[in-house]
Amino acid sequence: MNVFLGIDIGGSGIKGAPVDLDTGTLLADRLRIPTPKPSTPENVAVVVGTIIEHFEPIIGDAPVGITVPAPVVHGVVPFIANLDKSWTGLDADRFFTESLGRQVTLVNDGDAAGVAEVRFGAAKGNPGLVLMTTLGTGIGSAIIYRGVLVPNSELGHLELDGFDAETRAASSVKDREGLSYPDWAVRLQRYYSHLEMLFSPDLFIVGGGVSRDWDEFGPLLTLRTPVVPAAMRNRAGIVGAAMAVQDAILHPEAH
Ligand code: BGC
Repeated sequence: MNVFLGIDIGGSGIKGAPVDLDTGTLLADRLRIPTPKPSTPENVAVVVGTIIEHFEPIIGDAPVGITVPAPVVHGVVPFIANLDKSWTGLDADRFFTESLGRQVTLVNDGDAAGVAEVRFGAAKGNPGLVLMTTLGTGIGSAIIYRGVLVPNSELGHLELDGFDAETRAASSVKDREGLSYPDWAVRLQRYYSHLEMLFSPDLFIVGGGVSRDWDEFGPLLTLRTPVVPAAMRNRAGIVGAAMAVQDAILHPEAH
């Protein structure tokens, strides 16, 4: 069996589970621990260590994959919007590998969700250009063409109408400003129309926790491009994290 532990670090929770990468299924219930405050790398590493320890009977000393809500460029986090700013410039692959005493590979959370949806979920078998977005604390993105990821696309930070797009259209903004679904959908429409104009994708996938309410806002969007909710739900980040560590083992030169 092809099993790796995937851990998904988010603004509010850190979740992990062992993943069977032959099927994309979780081999045990997820363990979720609230994100520590302040969310420094040191504090997050303690929580990640607890999650690893919990699943050690299943994963032994195997390498672990971890998503972060930030770009990860050859292991380094160049900037971060929604966790403690002390992550900035950190060689996070090395930091976590050293503090946890095992090989750790970090990956951007949007990229992780995108590759998971392409291998196992809503874009399985799609032969063209897939644009995944996750609507949460921020907006994550993944550009995948014929199954190959273009990493660290950061489309949540597109500047649109003078705003950083995620500060207008993330689901956290909907909650913070108390927007109704129709009001929020106006902002999503503006965002996705712009992405459509820039990329002409074959498929949009909309993920993030709010995608479970797809029926409330998805049908309000008018786009030429087919748009579907994520199929992996809250598994996408965990599965994508496990895929990242497997990729780092198979293709160390790319990490
Ligand atoms: C970060 C991205 C991340 C997204 C979703 C953005 O603020 O810059 O790297 O994927 O939030 O967490």
